[in-house]
Amino acid sequence: MAIKPVLLYPQDEKKLRTRSQKVKKMHTEVQTLMQDLKDTLLTKPGAGLAAPQIGVHKRIVVVRFGQDEGEMQAPLALVNPVILETGPLTKGFDGCLSLPRISTWDTLRPAWLRFRAQDESGKPFEMKVEGIDAALVHHEVDHLDGIFFLDRLSGGAKLYISMTTEEGEKLVLLDNLSSL
Ligand code: NI
Repeated sequence: MAIKPVLLYPQDEKKLRTRSQKVKKMHTEVQTLMQDLKDTLLTKPGAGLAAPQIGVHKRIVVVRFGQDEGEMQAPLALVNPVILETGPLTKGFDGCLSLPRISTWDTLRPAWLRFRAQDESGKPFEMKVEGIDAALVHHEVDHLDGIFFLDRLSGGAKLYISMTTEEGEKLVLLDNLSSL
């Protein structure tokens, strides 16, 4: 039986900063891990999750493409993803399930990228994505190398925190970054 995955937060920074290992064989254990990642992602307000975020240092991420079209697709597992080619860096939205409630519009990510990965059965494939989907793949591959989205902020970046107010959920600018 699978252990219920627990999301790691910045207090587990050492684990989030550890480089993940390549998946060599698609064992049952790997299949279970992919399912755990998908199940966990579906219960969270995010579009991607990487194995190290649940404490497993294997090069597997799950992503939900289609945010630009306004409809997120079912989670797709990318095993051993490698970015092959990237477009120019552009500022965009970013947030991370390991840093809940904090978001930014000032992360530098490629406007498009081409990547190679293996699917759930281990079959290799290549894909080109752009916009939010490209930022998403870039963000998740970063997790496999121990890189956090805060490392990718542009100079003078602004961070926002979501807070519950009388008018409901609101995004508030964190003007004092040192208080983080
Ligand atoms: Ni993340």
